[in-house]
Amino acid sequence: MGREKPRIIIFSGKGGVGKTTAAAATALRCAENGLKTIVISIDIAHSLSDAFQPEIDLHDHNRGQRRQINDNLWIQEVDIQEELDRHWGEVSKYLAALLGKSGITNVLAEELAIIPGMEDVVSLLYINQYYKEKTFDVIVIDCAPTGESLRFVSMPSTLEWYMKKIFKLERNLLKAARPIAKRFTDIPLPEDAYFASIGNLFMRLEGVDEVLLDREVTSVRLVTNAEKMVVRETQRAFMYFCLYGLVVDAIIVNRLFPQSLQDSYLKDWLCTQQRSLKQINEIFDPIPIRKVNILEDEVVGLEMLSKMGAQIYDEIDPSAVMHQDTVYRIDRSEDGFTLRIKLPFVTKDHVDLFQEDGDLVVRIGSFKRHVFMPRVLVGRKPGRASLENSILSVAFPGPA
Ligand SMILES: Nc1ncnc2c1ncn2[C@@H]1O[C@H](COP(=O)(O)OP(=O)(O)O)[C@@H](O)[C@H]1O
Ligand SMILES: [Mg+2]
Repeated sequence: MGREKPRIIIFSGKGGVGKTTAAAATALRCAENGLKTIVISIDIAHSLSDAFQPEIDLHDHNRGQRRQINDNLWIQEVDIQEELDRHWGEVSKYLAALLGKSGITNVLAEELAIIPGMEDVVSLLYINQYYKEKTFDVIVIDCAPTGESLRFVSMPSTLEWYMKKIFKLERNLLKAARPIAKRFTDIPLPEDAYFASIGNLFMRLEGVDEVLLDREVTSVRLVTNAEKMVVRETQRAFMYFCLYGLVVDAIIVNRLFPQSLQDSYLKDWLCTQQRSLKQINEIFDPIPIRKVNILEDEVVGLEMLSKMGAQIYDEIDPSAVMHQDTVYRIDRSEDGFTLRIKLPFVTKDHVDLFQEDGDLVVRIGSFKRHVFMPRVLVGRKPGRASLENSILSVAFPGPA
């Protein structure tokens, strides 16, 4: 049973919500369905191999390599430092030297902040390589906590910008300026090898942006818990993934207490979780919301992972694209910004908009949706709103 194009599923969410566990459970379930699957951890704080104990020897010296779990399942915990030492010595040497110099002007420091983080580049390289080699039907990515995984998905466009705007310019300038500059500055100037390595790197990353934006290939699954603070961060992440053009195809609400605990010490928790679930519906509907109970014990080993996988997916194919649409878009217009929200189940009616706790709340008849306000819209008042072809457009007038 193989797929024509490999499938990429990215797991993201706040630290501790159960990303690694959900990613591992998903990969195992795909493998159980006969798909050749790899789960790659790109979080520096790896815990993937812990989830697969005792199948995995934690003292194995090849921790950064891919390791086989069963007939169809492999895991890999990318060792960023080792990768950097091995492949991009020149690049990292240059960046480290440059960043290590004191007295860098603010402008330069700002420029440097835009240069892609090498960890993200390494991860993208693996994804691109596995995608192109078609070694696996499914590539599951266990990401670092939300903020960092957002930087990771924004990387391809940053890289392209860097290559087009800075890299060429820098290279040409340096060719001309090296002899003179050496006399005036002690900032080390990159050697030709630096440019060669970056050029090579860029070639190997070619096309990865299209892969990430191909909605039949890549989806993001957000793992959350039914708690206010966690939901807030999930909501924020959801908005930003949408803005980067990635499709979130499921929300996994993990660690719910079973209703059978009704009369116990945890009864207040049950109420909190119920309230939170209602809010989760208002935020993410129509994205499929999958609920997972807290299991009897920590989720370690194939048996527990398999149990978790069954709870997440039930009869659904874990490798399927569970939702196709990007929900949000923000475009710059002549007079400010326009926020577009896809609302497939809403028919034309009076649209009521108001702001509440930093959210834009959209109410149309009995439908209510909480929308996280990204930075460009904060401080602006919503203007005209119109609903057409299931897309609600809200103008946010004012100078950009
Ligand atoms: N549904 C669950 N039931 C019981 N334990 C869980 C569940 N989900 C996660 N855990 C446990 O919680 C801990 C943290 O999960 P982990 O997946 O490592 O979080 P993250 O990767 O988001 O930081 C692990 O020990 C894991 O076994
Ligand atoms: Mg983790």
